[in-house]
Amino acid sequence: MRLTQEEKDILAGKQGETLAKIMKTIVDFGDVFGATKLVEITHPSHFVTSFGIGLLKPLFRTMDEIISAGITTKQPFTVDPRPIDYTNVKCNMLEKLVFSKIMYSQQKRYEEQLKKIGLKDEASFTCTSYFEEVGNVPAYGDILGWAESSAVVYANSVIGARCNRNSGMLDLFSAIIGKVPYFGLLTDEGRKADWVIELKTSKLPEAHVLGSAIGLKIMEDVPYIVGLDKFLGKEITEDVKGYLKDMGAACASNGSVGLYHIDGLTPEAKEKGKKLIKKEAKVYTITDKELEKVYRSYPVLWKNEKAKPKLCFIGCPHLSYPQLEMWAMNIIEGLKLRGRKKVAVRTILTTSPQIAEKFSGTELYAQLKKTGAKVSSICPLMYTNNPIASKKPIITSSNKLRTYSASRFYKNDDILKVITGGKL
Ligand code: F3S
Repeated sequence: MRLTQEEKDILAGKQGETLAKIMKTIVDFGDVFGATKLVEITHPSHFVTSFGIGLLKPLFRTMDEIISAGITTKQPFTVDPRPIDYTNVKCNMLEKLVFSKIMYSQQKRYEEQLKKIGLKDEASFTCTSYFEEVGNVPAYGDILGWAESSAVVYANSVIGARCNRNSGMLDLFSAIIGKVPYFGLLTDEGRKADWVIELKTSKLPEAHVLGSAIGLKIMEDVPYIVGLDKFLGKEITEDVKGYLKDMGAACASNGSVGLYHIDGLTPEAKEKGKKLIKKEAKVYTITDKELEKVYRSYPVLWKNEKAKPKLCFIGCPHLSYPQLEMWAMNIIEGLKLRGRKKVAVRTILTTSPQIAEKFSGTELYAQLKKTGAKVSSICPLMYTNNPIASKKPIITSSNKLRTYSASRFYKNDDILKVITGGKL
């Protein structure tokens, strides 16, 4: 890779040993992927590592070294959600013990480290930093060094920013250097579509199942989706943002999709149209039958398939404001319909701290609280991904959470039925 004199000097240690090691990591990473140069990051970072898991010893050591060297990120950054929220996601004594002494024993230390190197503020823990309420919103064409897969695919696709699927710590290092290697999704060529997805369904598909079908089929490629604008319209409204967030997260976790284009809707597809499709692009047709096949293929990982659900998580990635309102209204209405006052399954709606705060002052929240459902800014995956929680029959409407945990996936209507006391 071609480096500028300043970059070479940093690599040679002229600005200290720590910065030299950070630069070396970025350059080595770029070389592996055939990057030609480093380019400047034009927007604040978002980190994927938000959890103080005791096992991540090299991370905490590296953070200490960075802090001792007086190094900070170029701009304040946001970070993924916390793994614990004892107020809204109650734990028993044993769970508390496992979380605080074993799983997340370094949480406090790590959050202190994040603050010292440039964390934006205490409320910056969410995977949906790109929503206006949170405020880490890139613009079209911005170059990013993010790593959270659901945020990367959203920023690339819905906003038109440019970001590779980086790893944890690489997001940290590039936020310090202020540069990322130029390859892949940063280039015009890398943003062209390898697949045309023809959507031929009778109605708007469930976002999580559609994303899952695409991810499972095309893995790390770029899709150009035709036919979705018929259902979503031609503008990225607040409702459309929520849908695309969920669809993208499923593409990015069932495959490793970092960018999708939607004909007539997403910014680059609107600008360049079908010119974005590579000549040799393959075609995948999605019908109602195909989606049902994908949905039916999800394994049930509970010990007892017939167990009664004990906990329900909705909001992975974190819910947008309209999604939170919609779920609250649906739960309240669903309970009324069945003559119930309380949810039948302990239900947690997860959203960013900013949206939770905004929602907490509303009449709708007051009504939701009476049903027993809670609003939290926890990461459900971090909560469920441990030997105790993974034994619980947990249900979710998130395909990403299903993919990475033993939680059981239900479509939106079905999960609403379950939590409001109906029978499937
Ligand atoms: Fe967000 Fe945690 Fe899901 S980071 S996307 S809530 S796994």
